Amino acid sequence: MDAKKKKTIVDLRKMKAEGEKITWLTAYDYMTAKYEERAGLDMILVGDSAGNVMHGYKDTYPVTMDEMISHAQAVRRGAPNTFCVGDMPFMSYQISNEDALYNAGRFIKEAEMDCIKLEGYTPLCLERIRFLNEAGIVVCGHIGLTPQFAAQLGGNKAQGKSLEATEKLIQAAVDIEKAGASLLLVEGVPAIAGKAIHDACSIPVLGIGAGSYMDGQLIIFADMVGLYDDFTPKFVKKYVNVAEEYMKAFTSYVEEVRGKTFPDDSVHSYKIAPEEAEAIEKLMKK
Ligand code: KIV
Repeated sequence: MDAKKKKTIVDLRKMKAEGEKITWLTAYDYMTAKYEERAGLDMILVGDSAGNVMHGYKDTYPVTMDEMISHAQAVRRGAPNTFCVGDMPFMSYQISNEDALYNAGRFIKEAEMDCIKLEGYTPLCLERIRFLNEAGIVVCGHIGLTPQFAAQLGGNKAQGKSLEATEKLIQAAVDIEKAGASLLLVEGVPAIAGKAIHDACSIPVLGIGAGSYMDGQLIIFADMVGLYDDFTPKFVKKYVNVAEEYMKAFTSYVEEVRGKTFPDDSVHSYKIAPEEAEAIEKLMKK
C-alpha cells in the first residue's frame, strides 16, 4: 500500500477553495494517532485538552510545554504522514515574543509539528501571531470558547450568542488573518455566528461546535469515541462507546483471573519441546 501523502498548508487552502471539507481530530499518543492516520484524517491536533483527557486535570491551565512535547512526539511517531498541529499551552506564549518563538520552535524542532495553535484575540495574541509568522512558523488562531481564557469568560461557555458578540468575533477573525495566521479554529458558537465568521475570512476556518458551514471540523477524539465522560459538550456526537467496551474487557479479565480460567496454558503460554518439559517435571519432583 502506498504511504499516505502528508497535506501541507497549500493543500488545505486548496481544499477550502474547492469546497472539500477538512477532517481534524485530536490525539495525544502513538496508538490513537496511528489509527487516525489509517482512517485518512487530514489533520491531527495535539491539543492541550491532553490536560483533561490524559492527565485528569480539571482544566487546561496546568499543562506544561514539556508534557505537550512528549504528546506531540508520540503523535508524530504514530502519524508520520498527517498534518499535525501543536497546541501552545497556557504561559507558553504569553510572556514575550521570544519565549513564544522558543516554545513554538520546540514543537517544530523536537516534535516535527507542521503548525502551532494559540488561543485568544488580545493585542498580545495578535503580536505573537505576527512574530511567529514572520519567523516562518505556520500559525492557527483560535477564537470563541477559548479554555485558556475561561477565568475571564466565566467558564467554558458558548460565545457569539448575540449580534454584538458575533461582530466582535468577526473582527477578531479578520485581525488574526491579517496578523498572519494561516488557519483559524472557531470553538463553541451558534452555527449562524460560525457562518458569519467563516464568510469574513479567506484562510481555512475550522470549527469545533461552530456549525456546519466551516471549511472543516474538529472534535476531541476521546469525546467522539465515548472514552471521556467527566463532561461532554452539547456539540459532541458519540460515534462509538469505547468506555463500555473497556469496562466489559476489564471486568471479564478480573473475573477470569480470580476464577482461574485465564490464562489457559494450552493457549496463552509459550511452547516447549516435550523432552524439555519432561525434564523440568522431573526436576520439580526431586
Ligand atoms: O486542546 C484542544 O483540544 C483544543 C480544542 C478543544 C479546540 O484546543
